Amino acid sequence: MKKLNSAQLRAAYLEYFKSRGHAVINTASLIPENDPTVLFTTAGMHPLVPYLLGQKHPASTRLTDVQICARTGDIDEVGDASHCTFFEMLGNWSLGDYFKKESISWSFGFLTEALGIDVKRIAVSVFAGDENCKRDDESAKIWKSLGIPSSAIFFLPKENNWWGLAGQGPCGPDTEIFIDTGKKKCGPDCSPACNCGKYLEIWNNVFMQYFKDANGKLTPLEKPNVDTGMGLERTVCILNGFKSVYETDLFADAVHKIEELCNRRADADALTQRSVRIVADHIRTAVFMLGDVKGVTPSNVYQGYVLRRLLRRAIRFGRFIDLPNGALQTVAAIYIEKYKDVYPFIAENAEKIISELVKEEEKFAKTLVQGVKEFEKLVKYIPDKKINGKSAFRLYDTYGFPLEMTVEMAEEVGFSVDTVGFAAALEEHQNKSRVGAEQAFKGGLADSSETTANLHSATHMLHEALRRVLGGEIKQRGSNITAERSRFDFEFGRPLTPEEIQTVENLVNGEIKKALPVICAETSVDEAKSSGAIGVFDNKYDERVKVYTVGFSKEICGGPHAANTGDLGTFSIQKEQSSSAGVRRIYSVLK
Ligand code: SER
Repeated sequence: MKKLNSAQLRAAYLEYFKSRGHAVINTASLIPENDPTVLFTTAGMHPLVPYLLGQKHPASTRLTDVQICARTGDIDEVGDASHCTFFEMLGNWSLGDYFKKESISWSFGFLTEALGIDVKRIAVSVFAGDENCKRDDESAKIWKSLGIPSSAIFFLPKENNWWGLAGQGPCGPDTEIFIDTGKKKCGPDCSPACNCGKYLEIWNNVFMQYFKDANGKLTPLEKPNVDTGMGLERTVCILNGFKSVYETDLFADAVHKIEELCNRRADADALTQRSVRIVADHIRTAVFMLGDVKGVTPSNVYQGYVLRRLLRRAIRFGRFIDLPNGALQTVAAIYIEKYKDVYPFIAENAEKIISELVKEEEKFAKTLVQGVKEFEKLVKYIPDKKINGKSAFRLYDTYGFPLEMTVEMAEEVGFSVDTVGFAAALEEHQNKSRVGAEQAFKGGLADSSETTANLHSATHMLHEALRRVLGGEIKQRGSNITAERSRFDFEFGRPLTPEEIQTVENLVNGEIKKALPVICAETSVDEAKSSGAIGVFDNKYDERVKVYTVGFSKEICGGPHAANTGDLGTFSIQKEQSSSAGVRRIYSVLK
């Protein structure tokens, strides 16, 4: 195996695919363009979705890149050997060009020839098939022809060998590539699907053959694509025989700096090791979120909230290892140095990165100690081991504890938190500070009763469902909501089909079933805009607006709204008709 460092692996990967006709493209921003369904770019394919759906890419039908990604879904796993909230994904794509044979052969070639990995150490999984898509014998055959024995080819179900975005988008069966660490099988059924550590996933080749719509229905794509992604951190780790990604050149200097600042070794004990890794991981992610071309700053909404959570979590874990105040910027400076040549925007935004970190650390360090005391008091006196919504809200509002932090701290001592109660307390607090009736009138509401508020929330989701079914360009023209029904007018050139009406209803009812807390966030117009919220942006730049998140809808609005989508009952469209030329009108009710 060739002991490549991160720079060498990036270069080797791009060169390998470049010499096979791929155009090398730059990383896209960590903040997705025009996509209200996700906060961060989570995979290399993300910025390429329009092209995977058939739009012509200006560079080529074969692309390769290194994409910066953030995934916070696995945040609880951070601290183990390989999970990171930020990572770089090496990828190559075929946009209706080559398919399984070339894709698999090149992956094999890159691993065995360019990286010098012994065939015996490679294991793969392929899709086992289900009622929608047949077993992927074709991929298995190609792997066999390259010299992978049947014993190293595993047929696994959809949960392992299918890839698509969480919402709608291109998707398909995949074949995943693992390094066999040589450990003993953990049992007769040991496979890459288990977490025993025998198999480490490094690469995923997705054969995108379908488009999944908002209802989960699959339609074959006109031309199938290939989407692959290889984790840079993990692969460097494996190539060098390291025990964890924190030993790679990407993290090593930062980890040493943390050890020096805390005056202890990172592997002193399990808590120290986990804390050092969490601090190292979260600060790196924060550097990229702040330094991105569309960089965000810590706030209480959307991307800014995730960033705040990460930083405050890093500060809390820093306390476990006596990380001194002011350490965030010292560690961040190491990352800026490490990445500045690969990602020039990190160098360009270095000052912003540091000053925002200093601000956030100063803000939180002040209240953390008192907040922890308050938390400990709660834990001591609550007999039923459940922290109520009001207390969690107090920790949030007075001490700056993100809800997730309170939940995590509670779990550490065997407690739970009433998160729905938290959302209600937050809502109540926000409602107090606004002029209810006047706002309601502005929003086209007849009154601020509970039933009207419920219909108002349903109307937001109707709007978003229409955008998803008919396209993001549909434009609201007006709305009028009474306790009995909602009337919603929007620009659209033709009557809706019965199927479209049904899909819209299903989408809204789906969000109602999920019983999601309605969240209201007060923010600047600019922040609201960049978060992807829809609404009329007629406010002045520096004015504050409220953004309501109701299920999948995010809209600037004055309220009032339901506390939870679960309160709405069943949404039903009563009538769809023309209102005036090019404008449709929908009457709907809640039953
Ligand atoms: N999109 C696939 C993944 O994230 C391959 O890159 O695994």
